[in-house]
Amino acid sequence: MTQPNVFVTRRIPDQGLAMIRQACAVTIWEDELPPPYNVLRAEAARADGLLTLLSDRVDAPLLAAAPRLKVISQMAVGFDNIDLAAATARGIPVGHTPGVLTETTADFAFALLMAAARRVSEAERFVRAGHWRTWGPTLLMGQDVHGATLGIIGMGRIGLAVARRAQGFAMRVLYHDRAENPDAKALGAELCPLDDLLAQADFVSLHTPLTPETQGLMDARALALMKPTAVLINTARGPIVDHRALYEALVSARIAYAALDVTDPEPIPPDSPLLALDNCLIVPHIASSSIATRTRMAVMAAENLLAGLRGERLPHCANPQVYGRR
Ligand code: DGY
Repeated sequence: MTQPNVFVTRRIPDQGLAMIRQACAVTIWEDELPPPYNVLRAEAARADGLLTLLSDRVDAPLLAAAPRLKVISQMAVGFDNIDLAAATARGIPVGHTPGVLTETTADFAFALLMAAARRVSEAERFVRAGHWRTWGPTLLMGQDVHGATLGIIGMGRIGLAVARRAQGFAMRVLYHDRAENPDAKALGAELCPLDDLLAQADFVSLHTPLTPETQGLMDARALALMKPTAVLINTARGPIVDHRALYEALVSARIAYAALDVTDPEPIPPDSPLLALDNCLIVPHIASSSIATRTRMAVMAAENLLAGLRGERLPHCANPQVYGRR
């Protein structure tokens, strides 16, 4: 029997790849950088299945030119790079990897929060530059995390996992979302309007998906509501923050610090003014990058892909409405 053709847009952890190789004729894009759009489109045109990453643009024209495509499996929980409506209209299920990266991402959001509060990357640069001459009574003073107020925007799985970590630091937790989250309530977290959260929080951590409503949510107006001592942490998606407004807020000390795992665009251009600021910590979208979690994500992406190729319901489907159409 002929095996289905699958295009995998980058080398993913071995365990996931081995599962796909057993059942499919696989083409892997071996470069460190994503395949150019025209390559992805040409590969999609002859593929039965695609395994994508968040850096691959899967839009309506690509889908229209992919007559055989039965499934798209994204190795990420977020899928804003995929035109979900177009995939659904074509009857193509889109898989993603929710749940498995929750705790790892929350660990990292907290790591950024701590690093920003206590100026860890600045302090490390200071030492490496040979500036450490003595114990200084006011040297690199930061902010306390324990007892501070944490504002979580988006109380989904990851937001909740961050709130749980905050309990260990005796933090007051405020959150903003469309509705009350009973699990957050059980932790003592308080639902509040966005503006109140911004005005009260010492740390604001973003955990919403990127949608038309959240794009640019942290704009000049929102940043101006934050305390001058406040820290913004983004492990969600770069475009939720207006980077020009963020630069202005940081350079004018309107807010104290930003810690970004995600930027707009990605990667951040080397000449971005944000990179010149001491009060901005930027890392390359690695919040889910522990060995165990990236391996689980690859396995889950393989499971979704193989289910779709067999014509079965995807275990983790981003557009379950596709099944209503059958
Ligand atoms: C996701 O899964 O959406 C993260 O941004 C990368 O792990």
